[in-house]
Amino acid sequence: MKVLILGADGYLGWPTCIYFSHRGHEVIGVDNYFRRNAAIELDCEPLIPTPNLIQRAKIWGEITAKKINIHIGDVCNYNFLLSLFKKYRPDAVIHYAEQPSAPYSMINRDKAAFTIQNNLMSTLNIAYAVKETNPDCHIIKLGTMGEYGTPNIDIEEGWLEIKHKGRQERFLFPRQASSLYHTTKIQDTDLLWFYVRIWGLRVTDLMQGPVYGISTDESDLDERLIPNFHYDEIFGTVLNRFIVQAVAGHPLTIYGKGGQTRGYLNIKDTMQCVYLSATQAAKQGELRIFNQVTETFSVTQLAEMVKKVGENLGHRVEIKNHENPRKEAEEHYYNPKYTGLLDLGLQPHYLTEDILEGMFRIVEKYKDSINKDAIFRGVKWR
Ligand SMILES: NC(=O)c1ccc[n+]([C@@H]2O[C@H](COP(=O)([O-])OP(=O)(O)OC[C@H]3O[C@@H](n4cnc5c(N)ncnc54)[C@H](O)[C@@H]3O)[C@@H](O)[C@H]2O)c1
Repeated sequence: MKVLILGADGYLGWPTCIYFSHRGHEVIGVDNYFRRNAAIELDCEPLIPTPNLIQRAKIWGEITAKKINIHIGDVCNYNFLLSLFKKYRPDAVIHYAEQPSAPYSMINRDKAAFTIQNNLMSTLNIAYAVKETNPDCHIIKLGTMGEYGTPNIDIEEGWLEIKHKGRQERFLFPRQASSLYHTTKIQDTDLLWFYVRIWGLRVTDLMQGPVYGISTDESDLDERLIPNFHYDEIFGTVLNRFIVQAVAGHPLTIYGKGGQTRGYLNIKDTMQCVYLSATQAAKQGELRIFNQVTETFSVTQLAEMVKKVGENLGHRVEIKNHENPRKEAEEHYYNPKYTGLLDLGLQPHYLTEDILEGMFRIVEKYKDSINKDAIFRGVKWR
């Protein structure tokens, strides 16, 4: 396959580039360094410095003799994106190139406006570029489980059959997000569903839960290939943050009561899910939706697991419940269905003490680089 990976410099984008390249596919990686620049602006750079995308592709080429083509540019610039589709005519496009942070989207109006503009325009441009150059190209888009919110009913895999006054119809499962960022992901899904209906595009929308992990089998080949690992409040995901907090001696930051339950997955499973979706494509005119998680935990459960493993490794780990800066249910029903990717062949890496210990061991090596000011900023929703 020829695969265009948008957002290739990101936490998930870079390991996806080398995952596909390792398996013999032709990879074209694109990024505009938004996340690198935003992290500098907000003083929350990743724990482990990573070479830029061009340098990473060079390192990968030296180690494996496989070429990844890199283009630095903005996916919201339609002419730039269209030129890439015309040049490479990809079989699949994987869309990671969005502003991915809920707190970032809630900082102020300008960051909210940027999030809407960036996330929706990138998705719109992809739909148009695919239609103009090759409507058969499979669009794989990263959505989020946060689109569904925390409804008091089971969460189905993307769709819901509704019976109303004796008639029946299948609709997108109701979505109600709890941040502006998550709201843009709902709008993305709606945009793609619209173009699937109108133009018959071929789309897989992956409702992904928060990802954790520092390395993949391919990044283990050389430390310089490691994904960018954020532990700050803006770009870090909760489990990655807790491990760094434990190593830094900072109390684990639980927001409110800590009963917030979500579906999680290991970064290695993100690679598998995206790959399985690409190699078993959606049909023309289909919006296929998978819930991309492997197990669910409450925030308190995660904190307790990190505390136990951290203390076994000799760290003194405290847990602290902060006043919740967000507006969200702190205790709620949560029962998502997630069998679609298992049916495609996903072999999950469940969260074990060994996996946590492996993450601790890497973070411990970089303990002196932890910027404690980035751990908790308290970006408020209200
Ligand atoms: N990491 C998670 O836990 C998680 C969970 C659910 C969904 N997601 C989704 O997965 C995707 C990737 O997330 P991530 O954690 O790798 O984020 P990331 O910020 O590390 O990666 C996104 C990359 O896209 C680039 N980018 C953003 N806008 C761009 C544009 N207009 N043009 C070109 N490049 C652009 C950024 O510079 C960045 O390198 C996002 O869409 C996010 O919403 C992530």
